[in-house]
Amino acid sequence: MWRELVRRAVLERQLATLISQLREGEIKAPEDAPFSFVARWIDNDGKQLSAKVAAVELINLLCPIVAIGRWILFSAMALHQNPQRQEEIAAGEDERIEPFAEEVRRTYPFFPAIGGRALRPFTWGNKHFDKGQWVLLDLFSTNRDGRIYPDPLMIHPERAPSWRDQDFRFMPHGAGDLRKDHRCPGEWLTVSIMSSAIRLLTREMRYKVVDQDLAMPMNRLPTRPTGGLLIRLADHPVQSAR
Ligand code: HEM
Repeated sequence: MWRELVRRAVLERQLATLISQLREGEIKAPEDAPFSFVARWIDNDGKQLSAKVAAVELINLLCPIVAIGRWILFSAMALHQNPQRQEEIAAGEDERIEPFAEEVRRTYPFFPAIGGRALRPFTWGNKHFDKGQWVLLDLFSTNRDGRIYPDPLMIHPERAPSWRDQDFRFMPHGAGDLRKDHRCPGEWLTVSIMSSAIRLLTREMRYKVVDQDLAMPMNRLPTRPTGGLLIRLADHPVQSAR
């Protein structure tokens, strides 16, 4: 954790320096690049963000995009592991894309649990929780609970769980109702970007998945196959997606 905090501080400083350099005209960036957009953003009080705050905002934009990249990797794995679904989507069945993306979010291991402290004492089932006690909500197992999802480890797009279900059954990005709870507000955006990636992977890219070990070590968060997913693009050398 300490190493990551140091890396984060270094990145914030580097970005703040770049933002100052852009404002001073020492470096250039395309006008419509997110970097220029954040650097030149004028706040409600008519002032530019400080270089430090602008750097943090830029990282806030990057983080979810990098996170969604992991779901894209999982989508490519899921297509490879479910060739029939891949064929259906490749054949042009658009309505199958989003339910497939949702099943990828349900079955592939991204974020195992969220934690919080109890604001007041409560009893759930036969368990009592004191005020201030740590509680962990197990997202990983809830999403694979056979009582909610028969044949829980398999992708069945027809059962169609969705980010629209703001409840406690389907919770790849946290649970509850985002208008009242801390459930992730970026789910619809995540599903939309995953759907574009799935369309690209099935309809526009020509590639073969290289024979490799796709086991995912469970001691890293979020996990992925140690070597990424190696694919061979038609007429291209081997590429690795991480
Ligand atoms: C791989 C993609 C993503 C994953 C796995 C993810 C996961 C999560 C999780 C688990 C939480 C905490 C829920 C809780 O504490 O109850 C959360 C919160 C949040 N997420 Fe995401 N998220 C992703 C993408 C995004 C995107 C694309 C955005 C914005 C565009 C976003 C914005 C947020 C915000 C603002 C919160 C805090 C909500 C609050 O505290 O009320 N996330 N996310």
